[in-house]
Amino acid sequence: MSMPVRKAVMPVAGLGTRFLPATKATPKEMLPVVDKPAIQYVVEEAVEAGINDVLFVTGRAKYGLEDHFDRLPFLEQALEAKGDHDRLRQVREVADLADVHYVRQGEPLGLGHAVLMAAMHVGNEPFAVLLGDDIIDRRNPVLTSMMNVRARHGGSVLCLMEVDPSQIHMYGCAAVEPTGDEGVVKVTDLVEKPDAATAPSNYAVIGRYVLDARVFTELEQTRPGRGGEIQLTDALRKLAVEVPPGEGGGVVGVVFKGRRYDTGDKLSYLQAVVQIAADRDDLGPRFRRWLRETVDSWPS
Ligand code: G1P
Repeated sequence: MSMPVRKAVMPVAGLGTRFLPATKATPKEMLPVVDKPAIQYVVEEAVEAGINDVLFVTGRAKYGLEDHFDRLPFLEQALEAKGDHDRLRQVREVADLADVHYVRQGEPLGLGHAVLMAAMHVGNEPFAVLLGDDIIDRRNPVLTSMMNVRARHGGSVLCLMEVDPSQIHMYGCAAVEPTGDEGVVKVTDLVEKPDAATAPSNYAVIGRYVLDARVFTELEQTRPGRGGEIQLTDALRKLAVEVPPGEGGGVVGVVFKGRRYDTGDKLSYLQAVVQIAADRDDLGPRFRRWLRETVDSWPS
């Protein structure tokens, strides 16, 4: 029996330079998508997959994020005094959503380094990594599928998405072989952000991982790679290519075909806001009507 996945690690130490000046004083993970910060969708996704222990790997100036997942007595008292029970419930629910922990990544040495910061908290059990920039549509619970795949295949599980070859230089890229298990591929090689000309495939690694604790041993030995950063992709390559399955090696990928938004990218962020607003029961009907009328009024 494989051990259950109980803990999620969320690296959130990035500076959010793609969204300046909005992110000068506000963590990029706190940018609102309709009426919730982007990171709340990610925490909710982990909780819906049955994981309620969340470790944020933070950096400087992330107080807004920490406050968001904490109780806020003066706000609660003000809402209570006004009799605004609905908002009071929402505010309290965020604080109670998960059992939240923090560790600071003193220096921004890369995603691999951020994940290594979680070693002490995670210990010797499989765990999930969710990157805060990616919002996955809740109708496609890929994290749950990945946890089921880990139970069947062992090792580590990546989330792979086929992208246009012109986009592959923005992602980790996996060479794959079929497994015989529908929608699951064996990862035979990994390269961080390759050029289109040398990429082994158009399978991009997106920001959801279910990892064997053996990755920590590999990360400790991983030297700076692409961009001078300690890359998670390089440690995962070792697990895929060098470490035997009996010792925590072996990497498979779940091929994701659902909707995913990169809220670190301006166009994709706008798409997330529009799609999530359009899907909402409260706002959706009026918003969709307005959107249709507005789009129709644009010159083609
Ligand atoms: C990171 C990983 C990359 C992965 C991507 C997914 O890159 O290093 O392998 O494809 O996340 O979003 P980043 O976007 O942090 O540069």
